[in-house]
Amino acid sequence: MDRQEKQELIRASLRMRKMSYSPYSHYCVGAALLCEDGTVFTGCNIENAAYGPSNCAERTAFFKAVSEGRKRFTAIAVCGGLRGEDPEDCTPCGVCRQVMREFCDPEEFLILCARSETEWKEYLLEDLLPESFGPENLAR
Ligand code: THU
Repeated sequence: MDRQEKQELIRASLRMRKMSYSPYSHYCVGAALLCEDGTVFTGCNIENAAYGPSNCAERTAFFKAVSEGRKRFTAIAVCGGLRGEDPEDCTPCGVCRQVMREFCDPEEFLILCARSETEWKEYLLEDLLPESFGPENLAR
């Protein structure tokens, strides 16, 4: 991915952050997931009064994409921070990392954690989820 493609994905995550439904934490997260076929699925965090059923922005994007037939992904951009503030460094939670692991090659899948469209940190999934357990462990 070149710089321009990364910035485009980050912009989509920043736009999506405005859709965050987070009346309990007031922490607004947006994500934009790039599929290998070039399509982008976005997601925001969606909280719940019972707390437990809340869903992160990253999983919203993954579940939208998988439910629309995509299973191969290149990268995800994520931005998060308290409502009314600029995004801070926000890396995916452990549950979302494991969901990424289900569909993505840890050595290839790129995670862009963005503060703005010009400021971001990049990780490979294997950086954030080393020594992981995945579908190959169950295949013979
Ligand atoms: N959250 C995300 O959506 N993604 C992350 O990477 C970190 C946390 C959400 C979950 C919850 O709605 C709020 O942010 C505070 O944890």
